[in-house]
Amino acid sequence: MKIIGTGSARPSLTVTNAMLENFLDTSDEWIVTRTGIHERRVISSENLEDLASTAATKAMEDAGVTSEQIDFIICSNVVNEYVTPGLGCIIQGKIGATCPTMDINCACTGFLYALDIAEAYLATKDMKNILIVCAEEPSRMMNWKDRSSCILFGDAAGAVVVTKGDDLKAIRLSTHCKVEALYQRRRLQPTPFVTKEETDTDGVSMNGQDVFKLAVSSSIKDIDKVLTMAGITADDIDLYVLHQANVRIIESIRHFVNQDKSKFPFNLDKYGNTSSASIPALLDDLSRGNQLRTGELLLLSAFGAGFTTGACVLRWSK
Ligand code: UT7
Repeated sequence: MKIIGTGSARPSLTVTNAMLENFLDTSDEWIVTRTGIHERRVISSENLEDLASTAATKAMEDAGVTSEQIDFIICSNVVNEYVTPGLGCIIQGKIGATCPTMDINCACTGFLYALDIAEAYLATKDMKNILIVCAEEPSRMMNWKDRSSCILFGDAAGAVVVTKGDDLKAIRLSTHCKVEALYQRRRLQPTPFVTKEETDTDGVSMNGQDVFKLAVSSSIKDIDKVLTMAGITADDIDLYVLHQANVRIIESIRHFVNQDKSKFPFNLDKYGNTSSASIPALLDDLSRGNQLRTGELLLLSAFGAGFTTGACVLRWSK
C-alpha cells in the first residue's frame, strides 16, 4: 500500500492547562513538566461524526479521489454517541460513499491495525482505494475529577487514503492482555434476567506508571523488530512519527534509538493524546506543513489500552 492523501479535523474549543486549574488540583507547571502538554482541543458543540467526515473529505481531496472511488472504509474509534451502528457507517453516509465499512477498536494503536488490514485487503481483494478514518473523543470517557488522567487527552479525527503500492516495508502488531492498566467499563441496560452484581462506572481508570512502563518497553521491542524486518538501522529512519501521549515516553524511545530530536515531530503540546487519531493527524500536519519529503523513511509506533501496540516502517511517496 501507499498513502496518497491525508486529512484531519479538530474541535474548535482549546482547553489550556490554566483552564483546568479552575476545577482541578493541578498546575500548568506540573502538566507541562510531566507530560509536555500545554493545551488540548475538546469537543463542545461539535459531533465526532462531523469531525470524522471533515477529516475524511480532506484526505480524499488531497488524494484526488471522490467518495464513489473509495472501495472500503476502516474506522478506528473507541467511543462515540452511537453504540451501534459503527461510526464507519455514519461516515460513509456523510461523505456519500457506497462501499462496505468496518469499525475497529484497538485503542490508541488503531491506525497501525488499520494500515495492516488495508495492506492485506489491497493485496487480496479487488480494491483500489481504502479510506482509513481514526476519530476519537476521549474527553467523553474521562472522569474530569481525576487529575491524573483527564489532563492527558484531547479529541480529534485523522484520515488517510491508501492505494496499491510498495511503501509498507515492515509492520508488527501485538496485544498483551493487561486490562487493569487502562480501561473503561460501561453499564449495560438492565434485563429481567441478570443476576450478577453490577457496579456503576466512573470514566477511564488508568494506572499511569504501568502504562508508561509498558509503553516504553513494548515500543522499543516493536521498533527494534520492524527495523530488523525491514533490514535497516535506526539511523536510516528520517522521521519517527510516534503516538503523541507523553513527551517523556517519546524521549525514552528517542534515547533507545539514539537519534536526534529533529527526527521526532511533535504536536502533543497543542493537542494532547488524541488516541488513534494522533498519528494520522500528525502525518496530516506534517504533510500540509511540507515537512515530509518524497522517498523519506518513516517509523510509526503506537500503544494503547489492551495493551495493544504496533509499529511499522513506511516509505513516504506522496
Ligand atoms: O495512550 C495511552 C494513554 N496513557 C498514557 O500515556 C499514560 C502514561 N503515563 C503518564 O503519562 C504518567 O504516568 C502520568 C502523566 C499519568 C503521571 O505522571 P507520573 O510522573 O507517573 O506521576 P505519578 O502518577 O507518579 O504521580 C506523582 C504525583 C502524585 O502525588 P503524590 O502521591 O506524589 O503526592 C500524584 O497524585 O503527582 C500527582 N499528580 C498530579 N499533581 C498535579 C497526578 N496528576 C497530577 C496533576 N496535577 N494533574
